[in-house]
Amino acid sequence: MSLLEIRDLNVRYAIAGRVKAAVAGLANRYIDAVIDVSFEVAAGSTLAMVGESGSGKSTLARAIVGLTPFASGSIVFDGSNPFATGPHPSRAYHRDVAMMFQDPVSSLSPRRTVEALVGEPFVIHGLGNRNLGAEVRRLLALVGLPADFAGRYPHQLSGGQARRVGVARAIALNPKLIIADEPTAGLDVSVQGEILNLLARLQAELGLTYIVITHNLAVVRHASDRTAIMYMGRIVEAGPTAEIFAAALHPYTAALIAAQPNPDPAHRRSGPVLTGEVTSLRNRPRGCEFHPRCARAADDCRELVPAAIGRGPGHTVRCHHPLA
Ligand SMILES: Nc1ncnc2c1ncn2[C@@H]1O[C@H](COP(=O)(O)OP(=O)(O)OP(=O)(O)O)[C@@H](O)[C@H]1O
Ligand code: SF4
Ligand SMILES: [Mg+2]
Repeated sequence: MSLLEIRDLNVRYAIAGRVKAAVAGLANRYIDAVIDVSFEVAAGSTLAMVGESGSGKSTLARAIVGLTPFASGSIVFDGSNPFATGPHPSRAYHRDVAMMFQDPVSSLSPRRTVEALVGEPFVIHGLGNRNLGAEVRRLLALVGLPADFAGRYPHQLSGGQARRVGVARAIALNPKLIIADEPTAGLDVSVQGEILNLLARLQAELGLTYIVITHNLAVVRHASDRTAIMYMGRIVEAGPTAEIFAAALHPYTAALIAAQPNPDPAHRRSGPVLTGEVTSLRNRPRGCEFHPRCARAADDCRELVPAAIGRGPGHTVRCHHPLA
């Protein structure tokens, strides 16, 4: 069963006020950071969200948790619409859906102890009258930190320890879904593995559902059931992770995978090379947004935005000329 169902979600940012836009002669004072995004996440599963910097991954995450308003579309969580009464979701939804922010150390306030940081979700939700010290010790144990870390400050933590504090905060209120934005970025490879193992253990023990946002395809391959690939705000391909890696359908997906170093020579492949920069969202190309970088681009690609088409169970692609 789907825990989360997103339909046709659109998020835009105003890049200039009305007056400034008029003075500068801007035709469009908005950029579209998330466009017509639809996907589902099954309870207990992990969905990986992949895409280059600026593709809209964090914006999508912020919209789902209610931190950034969305212009249109729908979000159904556990069978109901948490945004039914307006842009601010219910308290219950805030407890059920937790976010682990990109860049853990700077997202922790430097002057607060680990105890205060891990206890904060309880205080925010008016549950601060519980035995907070005991709750914090329980959570530290769950994320594999010694109890005496409660008195430390963020600058006294290693990157991996700060990540664990972030995980403890995320699981504090017993959520159903955790959206982890770059959970392993900036960590040594061995520490990345420890954090991924921690997340996997907590998923099994607590029945959690994850959306993991990452640039790291090794993480995707290791840790997700399904993968969605974003390009300039759209999901251009989504499907079972094993299928995506074995037979990507979108030229962009294939290029991302081919660009990934593979230490095993038997599995080294030659594929399309990803060249050029992502086009600025202020100058969105006509037709398929990937066409300026795509070796397969044809006339229709320069005119028409490809619709999402189904290719096999649970596998969709937005491309006029998919690879299979
Ligand atoms: N508050 C904001 N106001 C205006 N534009 C924004 C704002 N936040 C993000 N953007 C723009 O929206 C686009 C998507 O940004 P977003 O942070 O969602 O990308 P991302 O995929 O998470 O990138 P990264 O991998 O670098 O974290 C980018 O062009 C970004 O510059
Ligand atoms: S629609 Fe055309 S330009 Fe876009 S990815 Fe497919 S082949 Fe390439
Ligand atoms: Mg981001």
